[in-house]
Amino acid sequence: MAEIKKTLSEAIEGRRATPSFDGEPIPAEDLQQILDAGLHAPSGYNMQPWRFIVVQSPEQKKRLRAASYNQGKVEEASAVIVACGDADGWRKDIDLMLQQGREGGMPESYAAQARSSVTNYLSSFSSDEMHGWLNKMVMIAFTHMMLMAEVIGYDTAPMEGFEQEKVHEVLRLPLSYWVVALLGVGHLKGDDKFNGGRFDMAHTVFGEEFGKPLK
Ligand SMILES: Cc1cc2nc3c(=O)[nH]c(=O)nc-3n(C[C@H](O)[C@H](O)[C@H](O)COP(=O)(O)O)c2cc1C
Repeated sequence: MAEIKKTLSEAIEGRRATPSFDGEPIPAEDLQQILDAGLHAPSGYNMQPWRFIVVQSPEQKKRLRAASYNQGKVEEASAVIVACGDADGWRKDIDLMLQQGREGGMPESYAAQARSSVTNYLSSFSSDEMHGWLNKMVMIAFTHMMLMAEVIGYDTAPMEGFEQEKVHEVLRLPLSYWVVALLGVGHLKGDDKFNGGRFDMAHTVFGEEFGKPLK
């Protein structure tokens, strides 16, 4: 386990979307710890529809940069974690999910119900609905990884600026994959970005119903 450099609160408060990285390689065990944090995320029915492609080679980072509106940090980051969802993941993984659940104490009645709910719910989705569902699930795992990276002393850059078809081509992704976001991980080079600040709670949080302040 890597040394904890910041508490979770410090990581949340101090994190900035890193503008530029020094490109130093990340030790494999640190990368494993970051990825593992993502794999611990919760997901609907525990279907874990996320898939991650870790790009570290200079040649592949260069190609990925070209698929990401030429964003320099894609090439500069030590590793870019390309977070995808697999629209067919649930079909392939439902038996595995139930088997693991049973090993962890899932009752048979729950397993039977889950199998029919998952199938009914997810098989009814349009392509857009599936992408919306995948976005929700994958971004939780993505956020776990981003914060774990920060806690163990890395800087991160979340990115949505990429072209779906081009990233597909560069990474040779299966057709059922949907690219959700890119996470650059490494160490900041030069100055950090300004702090854009955040709207205060009264602007974005309500109590009991829309428009009422939280007491
Ligand atoms: C999902 C997501 C996608 C983003 N995509 C990009 C991007 O493609 N390029 C970029 O420069 N910044 C990107 N950002 C960074 C945001 O601009 C940044 O998080 C925001 O301005 C707030 O700044 P802070 O993260 O430093 O507090 C993205 C952030 C998120 C959460």
